[in-house]
Amino acid sequence: MVEFTLPRNSVVKKGKLYKADGATNIRLFQVYRWDPDSGENPRIDSYEIDMDQCGPMVLDAILKIKNEIDSSLTFRRSCREGVCGSCAMNINGKNTLACIKAISDYQGTIKIFPLPHMSVIKDLVADMSHFFEQYASIKPWLTASSEAPADSERLQSREDRAKLDGLYECVLCASCSTSCPSYWWNSDKYLGPAILLQAYRWLADSRDDNDQERLNELDESFKLYRCHTIMNCTDTCPKGLNPAKAIAEIKKRLVERDHL
Ligand code: SF4
Ligand code: FES
Repeated sequence: MVEFTLPRNSVVKKGKLYKADGATNIRLFQVYRWDPDSGENPRIDSYEIDMDQCGPMVLDAILKIKNEIDSSLTFRRSCREGVCGSCAMNINGKNTLACIKAISDYQGTIKIFPLPHMSVIKDLVADMSHFFEQYASIKPWLTASSEAPADSERLQSREDRAKLDGLYECVLCASCSTSCPSYWWNSDKYLGPAILLQAYRWLADSRDDNDQERLNELDESFKLYRCHTIMNCTDTCPKGLNPAKAIAEIKKRLVERDHL
């Protein structure tokens, strides 16, 4: 029989409980903690939060922990409006943006982990380097062979502009890619739903005329076709986008290119 020995630091231990003495309206938050410099295993710390003294969003509770209880808690956040994409994390088993997720959407204890299947830098901070290298690989900028007009911007019809709806809103939070089992196992080569949605955003842009080169780059068994329509991406996207549909549109474009 095969025996697997887990690495010593793969065991997540029970951490401290921080009590909110005197509070009457308490919610319990359990948060993944790991400091690579400590030499300790990861642990789950528990924090009682007085909801009468806390804002409504999960990020408000995390900020309250950092500001008032445990300043060593490490996480990313910037805009607090769901537009920078930096506060993506796994909350009660689903990836989302902590700043636009209401605490009242959950019953009972709220469990907070970093994005799944990413290397962790510290606590809730995932290493996004590879994700953004993949983003750069799809050339996420306008490429047009024609000269730009001297006295105006490149214009689009209203209909062509509308084709970018559902694509331009992506904040590159990686919630979708890190919820995708295919990306978990193949992220070294599979681009994943977020990057493929971004790739389609440029294919759908009437001002960009580099479609053939973009399609040639994507037409590869791992980069694109590791998508098996599992749909976790669309289910989890905190912006309500549909990366699975964008991936299907790329595949459709490739079929049309090869059969027309
Ligand atoms: S498609 Fe949605 S989940 Fe994926 S990166 Fe963009 S905003 Fe985040
Ligand atoms: S802090 Fe910017 S998306 Fe949450």
